[in-house]
Amino acid sequence: MLDGKRVLLIVGGGIAAYKSLDLIRLVRKAGGAVTPVLTRAAMEFITPLSASALAGQKAYTDLFDLTDEAEMGHIELSRSADMLVVAPATADLAAKMAGGHADDLASTLLMATDTPVLIAPAMNMRMWLHPANQRNMALLEDDGVARVGPSEGEMACGEYGPGRMAEPDEIVDAIVAQLGTGALSGRHVVVTSGPTHEPIDPVRYIANRSSGAQGSAIAAALSGLGANVTFVTGPASVPPPPGVAVVRVETASQMLDAVKAALPADAAVFAAAVADWHVEAESGTKIKKGVANTDLKLSLTENPDILATVSRMRKNRPGLVVGFAAETDDVIGNARAKLKRKKCDWIVANDVSPATGIMGGDENAVTVIDRAGEEAWPRASKEHVARRLAQRIADALS
Ligand code: C5P
Repeated sequence: MLDGKRVLLIVGGGIAAYKSLDLIRLVRKAGGAVTPVLTRAAMEFITPLSASALAGQKAYTDLFDLTDEAEMGHIELSRSADMLVVAPATADLAAKMAGGHADDLASTLLMATDTPVLIAPAMNMRMWLHPANQRNMALLEDDGVARVGPSEGEMACGEYGPGRMAEPDEIVDAIVAQLGTGALSGRHVVVTSGPTHEPIDPVRYIANRSSGAQGSAIAAALSGLGANVTFVTGPASVPPPPGVAVVRVETASQMLDAVKAALPADAAVFAAAVADWHVEAESGTKIKKGVANTDLKLSLTENPDILATVSRMRKNRPGLVVGFAAETDDVIGNARAKLKRKKCDWIVANDVSPATGIMGGDENAVTVIDRAGEEAWPRASKEHVARRLAQRIADALS
């Protein structure tokens, strides 16, 4: 994925610096080469020796190291790379980048470069949310600097919120996506995700318990292989992944319109738990309880089936259409019938009986069914299932 690509990795001074060591390992595993550069603060967390041992080359640390200038000037150092990656990008380092400072090796390299730059911010959540940091992030975005993360989670300081550095494998995915070297580079994939909300009146709606976790993981995995992903999502509880074009919708019919508007695409993955019905006569005003409504009856009408509609399109049908089937009994039989009825190319079937703990859980066990046969995948994290599915899609499109 990164064969022959050279990454200049600038490590900032934050506790997440320890993850950069793993990042070096993963970039090399993907076929790339890494030249590490440690800021003075980074050296409080990791040593140049460990970075250079993992990278298999010298780790640079100081602008005024005259030997380095003789060996390779800082201008050359930054230009000889295919990409500059800043991980962790601390609030201070990002502020320096946004302000154009050049008072140490890291900031000077970032100023001197004309190659693409990717940052992986990591900082305390209050620092992340601080207007000064948000302003700097906006400036960097305007300057064309790509970003991966941060994610939400428990932080080293014990607080919970946004500011955690993206995981090393996500950073590798972002590098691949930026460099356009992924198996799905140049491909457009539409992914639906999350539940839909079908309004009863302006304040009430019918919903389901889908979290959107599997859909988000699939979009992230496809994007990791370099695909341009249009992520059409209902009101999910799991946030969309970074780096995808997000289209937010509420209802099934809005979701269908958004999917149609996103076409053409090379592939479409329909992971959304679309409501099967909507309220026939949505009330324009809040329905009042009272004598007239002690037995309120809602009349429901079937929603359009997005998967079946797109699979049957004559014009603009994506080359590969993937549907999901969440079943509680005769999983394979029902899924195979669905493949035929909806005319999609693959069905990803899973058993959502309560005993499996899959619905709302972190893991999934799926069987991928196509016209040729079926493939049962062992139970694994939703991220792992997503990566395997994305790779299968890439293989099918190649
Ligand atoms: O028929 P069932 O809802 O079990 O089918 C599930 C598959 O169909 C999923 O891929 C889901 O995203 C898709 N679907 C759809 N539009 C609907 C209902 C389901 O795209 N209205």
